[in-house]
Amino acid sequence: MLSYLHSFHAGNFADVLKHLVSTQILQYLTQKPKPLYYLDTHSSSGAFQLEHREAQKNQEYLNGIAKLWSMPAAPAALEGYLQLVKTFNGGSELKRYPGSPWFAQALLRETDRAHLFELHPREYKLCKNNFADDRRFKVFNSDGFHACLSQLPPKEKRGFILMDPPYEVKQDYDTAVDALSKAHKKFATGTYALWYPVVERKRIDRIEKRFRDSGIRNIQLFELGIADDREIGMTASGMIVINPPWTLKSELDTVLPLLAKTLGGNKGFYRSEQLVEE
Ligand SMILES: C[S@@+](CC[C@H](N)C(=O)[O-])C[C@H]1O[C@@H](n2cnc3c(N)ncnc32)[C@H](O)[C@@H]1O
Repeated sequence: MLSYLHSFHAGNFADVLKHLVSTQILQYLTQKPKPLYYLDTHSSSGAFQLEHREAQKNQEYLNGIAKLWSMPAAPAALEGYLQLVKTFNGGSELKRYPGSPWFAQALLRETDRAHLFELHPREYKLCKNNFADDRRFKVFNSDGFHACLSQLPPKEKRGFILMDPPYEVKQDYDTAVDALSKAHKKFATGTYALWYPVVERKRIDRIEKRFRDSGIRNIQLFELGIADDREIGMTASGMIVINPPWTLKSELDTVLPLLAKTLGGNKGFYRSEQLVEE
């Protein structure tokens, strides 16, 4: 099944958390001069027009990036991410929203390398065009859950793997944990981030348990919610990060309360937890 198109959701509250966490990780990992490998298992196209009818259908970005866009004084931990979105727009008006590969493109250096996987034919074509001029980037029209394993461990011995499945099918929750466990066996020192939506809380309880029982050490969880779990639809979303930068949790702790309030109002909440100790 390939009916999910990220253009309907670009810039929503879930993208804010996902891209904030990803950019924090990339900013940290690119401080060391040694080359870095970036792998995006579900890349989508890399760029979204917010005025396009797909983004306009539910205008999800209005309760996401649009609320942060004109914030008078953003906390330092949010500033890097917001500046990147502003650079991508190239002006004072919010018209476009970058996808995960674009954030990576903006932060990776000359010596770094990126592999993007995208299965949807339209999104793959767009992605290939968007990154065609960047020799550091290679785009594959294959299943990111499995194809990523063939790329690990990377020759750089340093890497960040982002896994951002659409969860169109319920097996995606288990497939993601299986794929990350296998990837971690091949490349135990890599940094990994798995995005998840909270649509049914018991599915997230299950993946948390599976990670706690996996034998993998040093796992953190960050979640941003805008409604009670009992409400219908995606009420929250989160990132599970394996081998996070040591600075990540303290940075996010300075900004998650504000994001929960700004995007969730009275119902907003967040989680910031060490799921498995180092
Ligand atoms: C949530 S979107 C990705 C958004 C993107 N990571 C971002 O943050 O801008 C998920 C994408 O995965 C693609 N997809 C679905 N199944 C896939 C698979 N098995 N392997 C690779 N891509 C897949 C979908 O077509 C969709 O574009």
